[in-house]
Amino acid sequence: MPDLIAVTLTGWRRHLHRHPELSLNEAGTAAFVCEKLAELGIPFKSGIGGHGVVATIRRGGNRSVGLRADMDALPIIEATGLAYASQNPGVMHACGHDGHTASLLGAAILLRDDPAWTGTVHFVFQPAEEGFGGARAMMADGLLQRFPMERIFGYHNWPGIEAGTVMIHDGPMMAQGERIAITIHGHAGHAAMPHLTADPVLCAGHILVALQSVVARNVNPLEAAVVSICTLQAAEAENQIPDVVTMRGTFRALIPAVFDLVAERIRTVVTNTAAAMGCQAEIGFERTVAATINHKEEAELARRAAASIGLPVRTDLPPTMASEDFGWYLREIPGAYAWIGNGPAAAGAFLHNQLYNFNDDILPVAANYLAATAKAALGG
Ligand code: NI
Repeated sequence: MPDLIAVTLTGWRRHLHRHPELSLNEAGTAAFVCEKLAELGIPFKSGIGGHGVVATIRRGGNRSVGLRADMDALPIIEATGLAYASQNPGVMHACGHDGHTASLLGAAILLRDDPAWTGTVHFVFQPAEEGFGGARAMMADGLLQRFPMERIFGYHNWPGIEAGTVMIHDGPMMAQGERIAITIHGHAGHAAMPHLTADPVLCAGHILVALQSVVARNVNPLEAAVVSICTLQAAEAENQIPDVVTMRGTFRALIPAVFDLVAERIRTVVTNTAAAMGCQAEIGFERTVAATINHKEEAELARRAAASIGLPVRTDLPPTMASEDFGWYLREIPGAYAWIGNGPAAAGAFLHNQLYNFNDDILPVAANYLAATAKAALGG
């Protein structure tokens, strides 16, 4: 039977991998999830907070728990060359949400077929995790009222850690994060007559460098923060100093007070550096992701559940500065987020790399972890 589940989940995962959809556009993925749930005879509601789907198994009692997976893909051109590589050009499941979705369906199968528990389990298939507010959208659409759950659990696959090893920390797992959009307004002109311009490209260069002083010189070295500018767009012509340059990136911190300090310093550095260069800068912060901070009791419960089914458990890894909007759930109800080792990251294929791939071998591991955690949470 476990073999059958592994084969089934692998097929589903590869189907999803072949048909990735960007955040807010997960219509096909949600339809696939609904189709499988219908085949499994598990009732569900769709269209929650966008393309969100919630399936529910009720077995009496008054205890309840939520299990969550994310469904969206990334705007990355896949380079794996796999037989089941993305058929949606420029879109790739480079974070393994295809695997998360398939393994949550697997947990639903395991719990459906397991008579040894009572209570209610809600399976939350969440859209728009990659910085597009899917968790908040589902909660704004009444997720926690319409599908009351005492606690919530979820996981992310983790390349570079031995396949199937489960990591669950007390406290911070992942950082609070926010996107930065900077627009620098100068005055356009001929590349050979810079004195008649205000050069936003040169200004952008200074801002790019100056922003690195925020973490280096404003944040306590013993507290973590990161500022990264990742896009820079200027003129098309090589002989025009343009009017406008835009820069976008993200910043993150594990502690809210550090996060607020970094935000304030970014604003000051950008505005004043632009002024010094004779330009004006507008700065926008958007789409905040809450830090994912595990609740101690639930983290312990999840570790015990993982160990009870024979999975190796680690707690010795530091948190990551990546963000994960599972943190929003943990602000509302207790729960815990785990990492499950995806095996070696061959050729440096970590998350969000064009060569990354979810390891199908951990599909049954993750499904069993989620099912065991739900049962433990329900007191089974
Ligand atoms: Ni992810």
